[in-house]
Amino acid sequence: MSRTILIIGIGAGNPEHMTVQAINALNRADVLLIPTKGEEKAFLADMRRDICERYLTNPNTRIHDYAVPRRRADGNYGDGVDDWHHAIARIYEDLILEQSGPEETIGLLVWGDPMLYDSTIRIVEHVRGGGRVAFDLEVIPGITSIQALCASRKIALNRIGLPVEITTGRRLSQGWPEGADDVVVMLDGVEAFRSVADPEAEIHWGAYLGTPLEITVSGRLGDVAETISDMRGRARQEHGWIMDTYLIRRAPGHAGEGES
Ligand SMILES: C[S@@+](CC[C@H](N)C(=O)[O-])C[C@H]1O[C@@H](n2cnc3c(N)ncnc32)[C@H](O)[C@@H]1O
Repeated sequence: MSRTILIIGIGAGNPEHMTVQAINALNRADVLLIPTKGEEKAFLADMRRDICERYLTNPNTRIHDYAVPRRRADGNYGDGVDDWHHAIARIYEDLILEQSGPEETIGLLVWGDPMLYDSTIRIVEHVRGGGRVAFDLEVIPGITSIQALCASRKIALNRIGLPVEITTGRRLSQGWPEGADDVVVMLDGVEAFRSVADPEAEIHWGAYLGTPLEITVSGRLGDVAETISDMRGRARQEHGWIMDTYLIRRAPGHAGEGES
């Protein structure tokens, strides 16, 4: 017998994003580990606690908060991220050994879905690689911010038969991705939509999606880029943090091959 780690997707901001599978996983856990730190993280930690209050009915489940180390901003981006992941893996290792018995189940609550711009699965595999803790792993999917954006704007993600590229603000700011006409942008600290030189493109933008703070704008990029930038700046100042996701479609003209 060994421990079980459950990586549970909790949705992107609305507690009602929680699936039945996620709620059942929450209640299977002997211990739930909740990360804390910084203003944004405080909001995310509150959201995780709200989810536990609403859905946790197992009186034996223990909740344990832990501090996430800050990522080093200097040096090579890839190395910095990798070092940071290894540092978190060591924290997980210690927490798992300290907070759970050898046959217990540990739940990690992951924002959105664990497969989308989230490294919890990679970090947990670093823990396995360290060889100090043996465990079975289960991943429970969640509603992503992309789904929350499309639902909120009442749009289909893809145009008929066409692909969509998912990328980061940093990458978009370096140039429009080759071969793509439809691009979803996440993790944008640089307002990369302002670097898109096609005013006819259509943008669907959403921040704090699914939360009571949600704001969204859709329109012709040339018409709404300034509005989004202003709203973004004001919201960020007011709340101290922002998480936004957007879809930009370049002017159509690429005949679809059929809906899939
Ligand atoms: C580290 S990634 C996590 C993505 C997450 N795993 C998901 O499934 O959506 C964080 C980025 O996701 C996007 N994001 C997450 N939650 C969001 C929300 N409620 N509203 C808008 N964007 C969100 C933002 O682009 C943010 O910078």
